[in-house]
Amino acid sequence: MGIVIKDALTVLFENGIDRIAKHSIYIEGEDIVGIDRKPDGFSEDKVIDGKDRLVIPGLINAHTHTYMSMMRNCADDLSFMDWLFKTVNPIEDRLEGDDAYWGSLLGQIEMIKSGTTCFNDQQMHIKKTTRAVKESGMRAAICRGLVGNEYDRSDRRLTEALAEIEDGKDCDRLSFFFGPHAPYTCGPEYLRMCADIAKEKNIGIHIHLSESVTESENMMKDHNCTPIEYARDAGVFEVPTIAAHCVQVTPSDIEILKKYNVSVVTNPASNMKLGNGFAPIPEIMAAGVNVCLGTDGAASNNGQNIFREMAFLSLIHKGTHKTPQCISAKETFAIATRNGAKALGLEKKTGTIEVGKKADLAILRLDVPSMMPNNNLLAALCYSANGSETDTVIINGKVVMENREIKTIDEEKVYYEIRKICSRLGLDKKEY
Ligand code: NI
Repeated sequence: MGIVIKDALTVLFENGIDRIAKHSIYIEGEDIVGIDRKPDGFSEDKVIDGKDRLVIPGLINAHTHTYMSMMRNCADDLSFMDWLFKTVNPIEDRLEGDDAYWGSLLGQIEMIKSGTTCFNDQQMHIKKTTRAVKESGMRAAICRGLVGNEYDRSDRRLTEALAEIEDGKDCDRLSFFFGPHAPYTCGPEYLRMCADIAKEKNIGIHIHLSESVTESENMMKDHNCTPIEYARDAGVFEVPTIAAHCVQVTPSDIEILKKYNVSVVTNPASNMKLGNGFAPIPEIMAAGVNVCLGTDGAASNNGQNIFREMAFLSLIHKGTHKTPQCISAKETFAIATRNGAKALGLEKKTGTIEVGKKADLAILRLDVPSMMPNNNLLAALCYSANGSETDTVIINGKVVMENREIKTIDEEKVYYEIRKICSRLGLDKKEY
């Protein structure tokens, strides 16, 4: 089926710069097959009028836990360790059946409705999530969160994770990482084993690193090193690594991240909400590290909206560094799109609108107050848009949302199931 988006303002990445001008985009099957030039033999089965529209590459949420969307507003105003060990983990222990499937769909609805086309998910419910992704039409990189202490290749979770990776190979929108959870839940031998197996399997690692002061202090007390050094010494960085958070990093940690080409995912809302502080993103960027953007799970964010993260990212660093030049709108937009694709090893498929790449894009309304006047649209994307401008979303060449109606997911059914799950888990009766 051929789709044409006709005469729409479009963000194209040309010669190292994002430029916005009117273009027509031709999509056939999964791919972008032409920009302004209709390919020979192209049949226009669907024409999307570009009047008052802005086409952007789909946003990439480079760190989340989608199933946690059912835990939105359930664990608030708590210290990080109380949030994780006393509140979130006990809820997770009580999940059953298809809970994680419905939770992931809820997260994916929110992402699609705010222009995200691809996400990087770490959790314990791979099969439920891959099923949800196959149905929603989103692109996703998925890993099972792994915890342990021994170098034991017969470890149950590990064996299951490897089987799950094999299982998901039938969907080309899915890719997989290895997911040792964090230095404070994975002993050095266990991390070494994860790194060895990831190397053998030729897959990357997605891990939480240096998220809180407590984590760094305990690491120094127990192992006399930083969490970044701990991961390096266990061999984690010998495979392509995505490190979520990196809030408590030292200048020498930043050098290590650069040396090993680790991609850093910053999660500003989650870090602020849990009282963990601000990752030194301008300094990490200045060192030449690939920085991308994530929401983290809705239990700590409490949303899955990358537009909100773009605003937080740029504003907190301008504010804390007392210089408005430290992160520009252009840099923020790159962080939310192509840097995420690079981190996920998907830069040949997604992250920019280019002929030959997969058609992963969001079409935003420009005839709404947050985008008016249509003067500096890259600034609008970072500073004034809130995600609700997203009108139509195309992923892998398929229209998954049109005029804000999601075509692939029965939204009402998801809300019905989420209410039922929350009622069973007692998450609907929070008292204040
Ligand atoms: Ni996380």
